[in-house]
Amino acid sequence: MKLNWAERWVVNNPLRVFQQQIEIAWFKRMMPLAPGKTVLEMGCGRGAGAKLILRTFQPAGLHVQDLDIKMIVKAKQYLGGVELKKISLSVGDAAGLPFQADSLDAIFGFGFLHHVPDWRSSLAEISRVLKTGGLYYFEELYPELYQNVITKHILLHPEHDRFSSYDLRKGLDNKSLILKHAFELRKMGILGVAAKL
Ligand SMILES: C[S@@+](CC[C@H](N)C(=O)[O-])C[C@H]1O[C@@H](n2cnc3c(N)ncnc32)[C@H](O)[C@@H]1O
Repeated sequence: MKLNWAERWVVNNPLRVFQQQIEIAWFKRMMPLAPGKTVLEMGCGRGAGAKLILRTFQPAGLHVQDLDIKMIVKAKQYLGGVELKKISLSVGDAAGLPFQADSLDAIFGFGFLHHVPDWRSSLAEISRVLKTGGLYYFEELYPELYQNVITKHILLHPEHDRFSSYDLRKGLDNKSLILKHAFELRKMGILGVAAKL
């Protein structure tokens, strides 16, 4: 689902870019990706993640998508001309990816899956389009953080079937996405890299 004004402010903030820089460095340390790969970023928001993915992993092709056209417009503005030559941007739903099975080397998701009501179908899509051995790099949050006594009045998230650490790990496993590395703050969120079996 699309972000409300409060979360748009949180993610369109320079501090968010700083956080993503730290996270992408962790991704690279845990599981480097050779240059020249075909990569997708889901729920790209205003494009800060795409910029970092290009710089850090030098993919041959980078597709980025978001459900919200306003985010795609922002991403076009945020990314410079040189970057835009290497990136294809599209509006789309994580529940149905316009890619052939076994076609992508890596998928990134910064804080997007917990916004998807049918997150299990999105994991199925991620697994479908990744090649065997392909990597899913993700940052996700748990309800204890985004639905606590304060945030539940400010932020907007799906109301049913929210995932905890256990649910997410089981969901990945059920879709043949094997968690290789994880850094988790209990009840808050997780950085992870999973490989498709
Ligand atoms: C919390 S924001 C994160 C944005 C960006 N990745 C970042 O880290 O700054 C979640 C993003 O996921 C997008 N989103 C939510 N549901 C989606 C879906 N079903 N398919 C694709 N994108 C979705 C939202 O529009 C939003 O831009």
